[in-house]
Amino acid sequence: MDIGIIGSSTVAQTLGGKLAEVGHAVTLGSRDTTRAHETGWGTVPSADDWAAAQRREGREARSASFAEAAAHGVDLVINATEGVHSLEALEAAGRDNLAGKILMDVSNPLDLSQGPPPRIAFCNESLAVRIQAAFPESHVVKTLNTVTAGVMVDPGQLPGETDVFIAGNDADAKAWVERVILREAFGWTSVVDLGDITGARGVEMYLALWLELFGAKGTHLFNFKIVAAQ
Ligand SMILES: NC(=O)c1ccc[n+]([C@@H]2O[C@H](COP(=O)([O-])OP(=O)(O)OC[C@H]3O[C@@H](n4cnc5c(N)ncnc54)[C@H](OP(=O)(O)O)[C@@H]3O)[C@@H](O)[C@H]2O)c1
Repeated sequence: MDIGIIGSSTVAQTLGGKLAEVGHAVTLGSRDTTRAHETGWGTVPSADDWAAAQRREGREARSASFAEAAAHGVDLVINATEGVHSLEALEAAGRDNLAGKILMDVSNPLDLSQGPPPRIAFCNESLAVRIQAAFPESHVVKTLNTVTAGVMVDPGQLPGETDVFIAGNDADAKAWVERVILREAFGWTSVVDLGDITGARGVEMYLALWLELFGAKGTHLFNFKIVAAQ
């Protein structure tokens, strides 16, 4: 499959690395492919360095502009940009390059401008709903935003089976993401369908609790298991 990722930092490189490892052709998009990212967890290599390292492993990987990455993503485009800037990043990726495609959104609308802890920039109307409204010709599928990047691609590193959520208006797009990406590429075995894209509201607002749990547990390696009566 040809997959374009809008964004080039921790999440983009983690998802892109796993997708390339299992045989997909991945292009990472960045405003500056030569620039490394300084994060709270350390330095993340530039998109150029990431792609070169992937190719040394025999994988099909490139770095490019947002627009070129979106154009490359014939089968899937992933939004892995800072949530408060996702709409402008996707505009830069180009409406035509996104039209008719599945747009998997893993972002969170976190506002880091006032320092830690991050605030939720807006709620009740989710970022994914705003993206779907801004790009009506794309099939937005919200998923994976509730776990840290490493767990997104390797849920087995947590003891026991945990849940990942999915939401989106287009049933076929959602089913494709669940099968090809979540189950086959990443190994998720429990996927909770929250219905149409308005279901993204809950998983984005969950970030407030995620941040509290991160502090309380002292690790980012944790996740949900829903226990419901039959
Ligand atoms: N880190 C995690 O474990 C994790 C877990 C769950 C969800 N998420 C969500 O996934 C998304 C990506 O997270 P991340 O940790 O990889 O990195 P991030 O720092 O949240 O986002 C990095 C990306 O955002 C783009 N960006 C930043 N400002 C921009 C602007 N003004 N215009 C256009 N693009 C801009 C950058 O593009 P350039 O490459 O051009 O600099 C960069 O590639 C976020 O929404 C985050 O909340 C992260």
